[in-house]
Amino acid sequence: MVDFKYYTPTEVVFGKDSESRLAEMVRKYGGNKVLIHYGGGSVVRSGLLDFVKSQLDAAGIPWVELGGVVPNPRLSLARKGIELCRKEGVDFLLAVGGGSVIDSTKVIGYGLNYDGDVWDIYDGKYAPKACTPLGVVLTIPAAGSEMSDSAVITKDEGMVKRGFSSNLCRPRFAIMNPVRTFTLPPYQTAAGVTDMMMHTMERYFSHEDDMLITDAVAEALMRTVKQCGEQVLADPENYQLRAQIMWAGSLAHNDLTGCGTVSDFATHGIEHELSATYGATHGAGLAAIWPHWAEYVLAENPTRFAQFAVNVLGVPNDFKSPERTARAGIAAMVDFYHRIGMPANLPELIGRPATEAEIAEMAFKATQGKKITLGNLKKLDYDDVVAIYRMANKA
Ligand code: NZQ
Ligand code: ZN
Repeated sequence: MVDFKYYTPTEVVFGKDSESRLAEMVRKYGGNKVLIHYGGGSVVRSGLLDFVKSQLDAAGIPWVELGGVVPNPRLSLARKGIELCRKEGVDFLLAVGGGSVIDSTKVIGYGLNYDGDVWDIYDGKYAPKACTPLGVVLTIPAAGSEMSDSAVITKDEGMVKRGFSSNLCRPRFAIMNPVRTFTLPPYQTAAGVTDMMMHTMERYFSHEDDMLITDAVAEALMRTVKQCGEQVLADPENYQLRAQIMWAGSLAHNDLTGCGTVSDFATHGIEHELSATYGATHGAGLAAIWPHWAEYVLAENPTRFAQFAVNVLGVPNDFKSPERTARAGIAAMVDFYHRIGMPANLPELIGRPATEAEIAEMAFKATQGKKITLGNLKKLDYDDVVAIYRMANKA
């Protein structure tokens, strides 16, 4: 078990009536004037946005609003948000939505505390010293940004998608009402399930083999999400199922399942280019890559992949061959992706094979111009990333 620090400062208010605590939370964390930031309209249609405004109005907390965050959020809108907040004297940011809205909010929070261009943080030219406090009303369990230290944004010029991690941007509170997730389309539900499982898998596939408690938590989380994820697609208004998934999404990415491990996150790095290039839904992109990443790196630690197959996917253990058990696990994962309507390769994700030129460009960007490697289980350079895209490109 490697040494670790576990820091999870976000106050979680969970349950059917949780949104009624909104104004109290904003006040508690120092909000005097609020930016309400949201996406493309789901919160308008569901009435959540009006409810949020009415809660702030009733408490006498002034607000301004900025909607229009798109999935795989853009820097250009965050820049507008920074300008608006400066003009309006906003001191608290409220994200009403999913990972895209929360991440855009985090970028605004960084930008408000820096006089230069906020992209400098993503280019490694500036290390942020502060982030304006933010809170979340979560509408989709997936990215885990409501408790995470990370903010992923796409620069419009060149469509460069990057993440930046720092404890500064962890939300002060997260309000989570599973009822609000009943309206999620099946594809978004399934992509969310895929993403949260992957956040745990990215921490699970490690060379560390002395982390019984972390493994037990991680395996229980993945089994629960897998089971409830399949069931909820047939029963989308089942509160109990939605609630398990919603809480699991936060635990999957608040570092609980990473205590004592060395996390990998290569699949995420490889996927981000699919979102940037094809506008792929993040979770679906992960499903299209993971089986091929797993096949590529399996030899690094077959026993670990076999443990995953047996303890998470219920694959029978072939005691004579961890490799065979591991491969059966990868096949079982592909079956699972297909059962929940997720792709398991690039043609299934984008409707055609990627071209060689696209593969070369995505691998170039993922490795930041061949300057960095991805992952830890096996450190992947540009050529490795090209090889994985090519494996994923076969239908
Ligand atoms: O824009 P609206 O109209 O609100 O629709 C959204 C959007 O189209 C819709 N939606 C959300 N809640 C809904 C709903 N539709 C009906 N009913 C509801 N209750 O769902 C669509 C997807 O929303 P989005 O916020 O994009 O989803 P998600 O939470 O998966 O976020 C994806 C983004 O998060 C990043 C991804 O890369 C991607 O950019 N990630 C952020 C991480 C972090 N900050 O820690 C970690 C992740 O690994 C991930 O990379
Ligand atoms: Zn993710």
